[in-house]
Amino acid sequence: MLQSAGSRLRLAGVVLLSAAVYYVYVPLPSGVSEPWKLMLLDALFRSFMQASDVAHALGVCHRVHLLNQVVSWVEVIEARSSPTVHVIDTTLGGVPARVFQPNGGKKLKRGVIYFHGGGWALCSGRMRSYDLLSRKMAEDLDAVIMSVDYRLAPEAVFPDQYHDALAASRAFLSAAVLQHFSIDPERVGISGDSAGGNLAAAVVQELGSDDTLKVKFKAQALIYPVLQALDFHTPSYQQNQAVPILYRPYMARFWLQYLGADSSLEPLLLANNHSALDQPGISPTTRSRVNWTALLPAERRKHFRPVVRETGLPGLVGKVPWLTDVRAAPLLAEQRVLARTPKAYVMTCEFDVLRDDGMMYARRLQDAGVAVTSDHYEDGFHACMAFAYLPMMSSVGQRSMNSYIRWLDQNL
Ligand SMILES: *[C@@H]1O[C@H](CO)[C@@H](O)[C@H](O)[C@H]1NC(C)=O
Ligand SMILES: *[C@@H]1O[C@H](CO)[C@@H](O)[C@H](O)[C@H]1NC(C)=O
Repeated sequence: MLQSAGSRLRLAGVVLLSAAVYYVYVPLPSGVSEPWKLMLLDALFRSFMQASDVAHALGVCHRVHLLNQVVSWVEVIEARSSPTVHVIDTTLGGVPARVFQPNGGKKLKRGVIYFHGGGWALCSGRMRSYDLLSRKMAEDLDAVIMSVDYRLAPEAVFPDQYHDALAASRAFLSAAVLQHFSIDPERVGISGDSAGGNLAAAVVQELGSDDTLKVKFKAQALIYPVLQALDFHTPSYQQNQAVPILYRPYMARFWLQYLGADSSLEPLLLANNHSALDQPGISPTTRSRVNWTALLPAERRKHFRPVVRETGLPGLVGKVPWLTDVRAAPLLAEQRVLARTPKAYVMTCEFDVLRDDGMMYARRLQDAGVAVTSDHYEDGFHACMAFAYLPMMSSVGQRSMNSYIRWLDQNL
């Protein structure tokens, strides 16, 4: 009896373990940094996504709300000061922000305004991971870091997030704020990752061309930024469509949500139907700015072919507003606008659907005469820098974070 109970238990254990392994295991391209860590991270993220999909389908709540609820339970932490960094939650131009101010010293300090990632819908600068990043930046750079909590989708859609980012940035550059926090107006930077990199790029374009501003950003640092929604078949979208954690369909979904369009259009976006040649309102000039056959080097184009449709669903572009608005898609900016932006750091990861957004932007900035540092990680994956404190933190996350902070140190 006992023995058979024991063997039943063992069998159940084996079945459970296999199910867990089956759930966690995803085939990953060779070369990705520490694949098992990425798989665990992905399993965690995927199970949250799936749970929120179920809640969404059952009408319990919007999927994004459940995700953000979980994030706030698990991740959002109080503003805690340490002996080295004074931390407060405040507002910047009416937008909530967490400020990290290094203690000590009478000298004016450098300042960075930061926008967190999360598809314009998720996360917060008050999350443990972003809090720790800002804290480290404040310590290592002896700089004041302001991490902005702009409004999120689905309640807020474009241009709300952009307007919040812009308002916070204008306030950051104001004499009152710079004085209050003892920030050197000659040494201010703007930065963000993923959707936050999108906001940073859009804001720095707008402010670079604003001649009424007395204080200008000295540097922009964009970490795996998302910059365009016209081509979901760039080589990096093709190559990494099934690489965690940012699967290709997730990105189309985030875009539709940000632009206030219907999520049922996802398959059309994924088919590049919305950017078919007969879609009105997308000029050849606009197309040339996302033309990766011209903008990417051969080693990134690899064997991939462009996916350009002759005909798309009539009226589709009208259902996806702002698709070609440069404030939503900074890659589409005019060269003369890019030329007025400050020197740039663009971090990209090989195993990221957004790799080519960043690479094309780096190229366009360079063509516009901007000094660009392109920092590419051959073993990197999307969001690798955001999990810096977890036990499953990958070495590429650590390496890229150090090199990002080093660049700011040398260029701000
Ligand atoms: C993209 O660039 C290539 C190479 O310069 C060119 O042959 C092609 O016509 C361009 N395509 C578009 C849609 O502009
Ligand atoms: C895309 O557009 C064409 C029209 O040319 C349409 O027939 C097709 O069903 C559309 N949908 C997808 C998913 O490609």
